[in-house]
Amino acid sequence: MPPPRAGAVTVAFRSRDGHVIKCLSMELKGLILSGGEGTRLRPITHTRAKQLVPVANKPILFYGLEALREAGIEEIGIIVGDTEEEIREAVGDGSQWGVKVTYIRQEAPLGLAHAVLTAADFLGETPFVMYLGDNLIKEGIVGFVDEFRGKQVDALILLAHVAEPQRFGVARLDGDKVVGLVEKPKDPPSDLALVGAYMFRPVILEASRAIKPSWRNELEITDAIQHLIDEGYHVEAHVIRGWWKDTGHLEDLLEANCMVLEDLEPLCAGTVDEESRILGRVVVEEGAEVIRSTLRGPSMVGKGSRIVDSYVGPFTSIYYGVTVEGSELEHSIVMENSTIRNIPGRIEDSLIGKNVEIARSFDRPKTFRFMLGDNSRVGLI
Ligand code: TTP
Repeated sequence: MPPPRAGAVTVAFRSRDGHVIKCLSMELKGLILSGGEGTRLRPITHTRAKQLVPVANKPILFYGLEALREAGIEEIGIIVGDTEEEIREAVGDGSQWGVKVTYIRQEAPLGLAHAVLTAADFLGETPFVMYLGDNLIKEGIVGFVDEFRGKQVDALILLAHVAEPQRFGVARLDGDKVVGLVEKPKDPPSDLALVGAYMFRPVILEASRAIKPSWRNELEITDAIQHLIDEGYHVEAHVIRGWWKDTGHLEDLLEANCMVLEDLEPLCAGTVDEESRILGRVVVEEGAEVIRSTLRGPSMVGKGSRIVDSYVGPFTSIYYGVTVEGSELEHSIVMENSTIRNIPGRIEDSLIGKNVEIARSFDRPKTFRFMLGDNSRVGLI
């Protein structure tokens, strides 16, 4: 028997006395969900897919692609919506990760189970891992995928212990077996919340066809999994120990940025003048310039960015082509090609989009002048 290929599942059939009598190998596909509306991250999501917002100067979606590749999955479908072009441009054919990417257009964000149904032709009869494109899972999914490979279950869900289970989808367990799922329970049956990665056999397609839209008019994946349980299918859980983040909110995104920066390896590929100070783990990327400034890590300055007469504090990621002059920044993400100039107070806890300009003007009359997109938020002191 040839050894199973990367991305394959080994299926063992047992005789009545428990001996393995046959092994087959089967392909395992990946499905990354990168459609959705991203309403909670407006105004950023008016002009950018939330999955492409950089965390530690890397689009969130790339962490998911890397996680799947690391788990040996080479054939990946990406569900896309209105931001299809942008996602295609960023990911291409997947060859930079050594995977083959197929784009699957979902006509509207009608739920995670709807996304699974949209991918029916791509999935065919193949078991797959479904990964939410705005999620970050520190330990990756190798252990999770391997457990599925070694088990005869219809679905394997990923869970994590959380402090406030009332805010999440929560699982009720009997040993490893999942006996029920409850969305945002008032009285949680456990502190185990659903994390954004799932392993399914194709029977999930039938379950997704069988359920009705929820109160928010979405086909919910939790309802489809509950349907599997109710029909007697075998659903088990894999619990992760490390952190994970759903980056749907500003606070979660900033926290994800902190968590990734915690593991930053310092690097200086740009130029730092003698009047500047670099304290702690800081990355200065190629072509970046630091002039008369202090950078305190963990923090990053992206390609071609300029930091002049400024302070960049811990847990700050500055993407490429950014100018920071005469200003102080901490615990923030600044996206590409933005400018921050002569701001008198320290900027903190902020997500600043691409091509944004924040500058103090010395013109008279002394007024605040804004041009802000819909749903913008400004905090003044
Ligand atoms: P969510 O964060 O649940 O939904 P959303 O992106 O619409 O965000 P918001 O609630 O702020 O409006 O989605 C999780 C991931 O799944 C995310 O990467 C978007 C993706 N998704 C789809 O691809 N199709 C869908 O129908 C839905 C609901 C989400």
